Amino acid sequence: MSMTFLEQVQESISYIRKHTKMRPEIGIILGTGLGGLVKEIRKEIVLDYDEIPHFPISTVESHHGKLIFGTLAGRKVVAMQGRFHFYEGYTLQNVTYPVRVMSHKIGLGVKTLLISNAAGGMNPEFRRGDLMIIDDHINMQGDNPLIGENIDELGPRFPDMSEPYSKELISLANKVARDLKIKVKHGVFVAVQGPNLETRAEYRMLRNFGADAVGMSTVPENIIANHMGMRSFGISIITDECFPDTLEPVSVEQIIKIANRAEPKLTKLMKELVRQI
Ligand code: HPA
Repeated sequence: MSMTFLEQVQESISYIRKHTKMRPEIGIILGTGLGGLVKEIRKEIVLDYDEIPHFPISTVESHHGKLIFGTLAGRKVVAMQGRFHFYEGYTLQNVTYPVRVMSHKIGLGVKTLLISNAAGGMNPEFRRGDLMIIDDHINMQGDNPLIGENIDELGPRFPDMSEPYSKELISLANKVARDLKIKVKHGVFVAVQGPNLETRAEYRMLRNFGADAVGMSTVPENIIANHMGMRSFGISIITDECFPDTLEPVSVEQIIKIANRAEPKLTKLMKELVRQI
């Protein structure tokens, strides 16, 4: 007989528990070109995604595919090195599977989920290399990780989304950024399917919809965090300027280069945020 989704999640958790008794309170998902925070984690145990039963396998070479348990700024964390994207062909249930496993609700103990990503800046005041704290989001992926039968043990059928990104964490991040003299912008993040970048007409439309930055991740993971009653925080590095009237071609190599360059300030901010959570 085939396993239910809940049984699969429980089997993943049991496997992890066999390798570590640690109960991380904070989960971290790092975006493209933003893996530097991992080096700051004092590692207790590292599991490859492909050894954990039912975990999706990551396909993108610039991602590593490891679940890292350890301490960061004295706090117990679990970090995903390498995340799953919808455009890789995963379902959104696959994409968000690790968040299901991490959660305190049935899983490893995570109550706070921190997410970073690389995003295109559409707000004309944004520049390449800026950090944008995500205040709110728009789901334009044309799909939702909660579609299908609701599993009441995991969360409600119709989760509230009036505060998808914790106001408390946003103000803490503002304070931390101020103390560290790191400039941060704020805005609305819109998630699209990708993998192509947007046309001028699409950037114009997304901007008119009310978004400040656009990317291909984060929203599904945030939805699952909300479904499971976790607090969530998101931050984007603006890697390209998506102004429809002056748009220039951009390659993924350039995007990764800008992300890598801005990454140290993101790492500093995230580490201090973790300390103060
Ligand atoms: N669009 C979508 N995703 C992105 C972009 C973009 O312009 N830049 C970085 N990720």
